[in-house]
Amino acid sequence: MDRKSLIRKFDKQAKKYDARREKDNTYRFRKRIFPEAEGHVLEVAVGSGYNFAFYSEVSELTGVDFSGEMLKAAAAASKDYPFTTTLIQADVESMAFDADSFDTIVSSLSFCAYREPAKVLEKFRKWCRPEGKILLMEHGISSNKFLSGIQRLVDPAAVMIVGCHQNRDISGIVKSSRLNILREERYLAGSMYLIWAETDSR
Ligand SMILES: C[S@@+](CC[C@H](N)C(=O)[O-])C[C@H]1O[C@@H](n2cnc3c(N)ncnc32)[C@H](O)[C@@H]1O
Repeated sequence: MDRKSLIRKFDKQAKKYDARREKDNTYRFRKRIFPEAEGHVLEVAVGSGYNFAFYSEVSELTGVDFSGEMLKAAAAASKDYPFTTTLIQADVESMAFDADSFDTIVSSLSFCAYREPAKVLEKFRKWCRPEGKILLMEHGISSNKFLSGIQRLVDPAAVMIVGCHQNRDISGIVKSSRLNILREERYLAGSMYLIWAETDSR
């Protein structure tokens, strides 16, 4: 799918994302991992700012998303929180930051959408300071054989309809990167991945 169509899809979903919050079934996973974000945080694919509520140790937040509608919702949400927020409309896959710019990088539900997720992790490694934190809450291929079969089957349709792959092995992608995985937890028949990683000391 071309970039413009993908952005349009997420623009259309923005209101739904904004209304979701505590009602949805990812709340407990976010609460488990994102309070560990600290210092200057880069949140990629920040969406409507759902994760802001979990940040207690964050002094400054840079949020990136290519959907203008998502960013409008994130800007409104950011007013409720004490940290300084800068929101940037850009494609995570083609943008650049200086090396060692952030203490923590957060991503939730974005690795399903990237063309080249491994390259995004390589960018994280550069952008995050040595031994900085990478916190991921991502959905991907289930560890259940039956479910993973269905996920593989519906993947092309899911990409067309919501712009999101169902069959990615998130754990495998992170393990193949140069990030160090500190902890990994799987939920929902292994289809929800929580990963605590850190950048190497370079
Ligand atoms: C499934 S939503 C998740 C939003 C938010 N992280 C959350 O957990 O609620 C995916 C988000 O990723 C953004 N996105 C996907 N690919 C992107 C890219 N290459 N660059 C910037 N944003 C992207 C979409 O616009 C959308 O806001």
